[in-house]
Amino acid sequence: IQWFPGHMLETKKQLKSAVAKVDALLEVVDARLPLSSSNPFLKRIATGKNRIKVLNKADIANPETTQAWLEYFNREIKLPAAAICGTRLQEASHALQSLVAQVDRNKARKTKVMVVGIPNTGKSTILNTLAGRKVAKTGNVPAVTRHQQRTSLKGNIDIYDTPGILWPVIEPRQRGLVLAMSGAISDTAVDYHDIALFAAQLLLERYPACLVARYPFLNPLPGAPQDLIESVGNARGCLKKGGYIDFQKAAQLIIRDLRSGRLGRISFERPKDINTNYDTDQ
Ligand code: GTP
Repeated sequence: IQWFPGHMLETKKQLKSAVAKVDALLEVVDARLPLSSSNPFLKRIATGKNRIKVLNKADIANPETTQAWLEYFNREIKLPAAAICGTRLQEASHALQSLVAQVDRNKARKTKVMVVGIPNTGKSTILNTLAGRKVAKTGNVPAVTRHQQRTSLKGNIDIYDTPGILWPVIEPRQRGLVLAMSGAISDTAVDYHDIALFAAQLLLERYPACLVARYPFLNPLPGAPQDLIESVGNARGCLKKGGYIDFQKAAQLIIRDLRSGRLGRISFERPKDINTNYDTDQ
């Protein structure tokens, strides 16, 4: 999937020099897709930095899968990680404190923490929660935060916000689909039909009970992704002239339910599915 907004390339260069100036990095990923929403070049520019991977939106991810991810990061690859809901102060502060605890602090100087992550993972939300006021723009559209800003927090900490950045070519294809499903890539950059089929397949395979709970009219549950989308479209009145099912509309409805958590707590990827095509070098 090609995704190339101009400001992101520039940001990558700026990110590298900005990282050099801070004491610690708080990397925000989406708890439902911690691998696909990780920044693949962060490791290279963050060598030797204190780091924590914050699995945000844990409130809408599958709890057992999130636990498995925490074990994967903390135990297997020894990268400190915490799962939080970005609007809960206690959870956000706890993650920040465990990061700051890694830093060899000089009390006379402020500890500089930078929040990094791809678009839409909740960086601004976490910052607002930590600051106790609205300091950053938030929104459900990728790349809302454009310019870096500094906020002073209690405990002699300065926190820097950075724009959500994505790399120009996303590979493998599955990663692109998972990212698109989460809303990290704008809907115009990918084929909605493909995302919807991919989402329907995931739901049928792993979360049939969530489907039945949200769409009780699915009785029996269709076996194929295409049939699932059509059945939802039919029951929810997503119809075109002549009574034909409006596939695009039906697909949007399911994707919206999935993204918002209305379909239940759903994780898009599990550690046990890690595939060798992925850059698992975190
Ligand atoms: P960019 O500016 O594009 O880089 O986005 P960002 O990473 O700053 O994300 P932002 O804080 O704007 O959040 C994106 C969307 O996710 C918003 O609709 C938030 O309300 C939502 N969101 C953020 N954190 C959480 C969370 O912990 N749980 C849930 N359910 N939604 C969240």
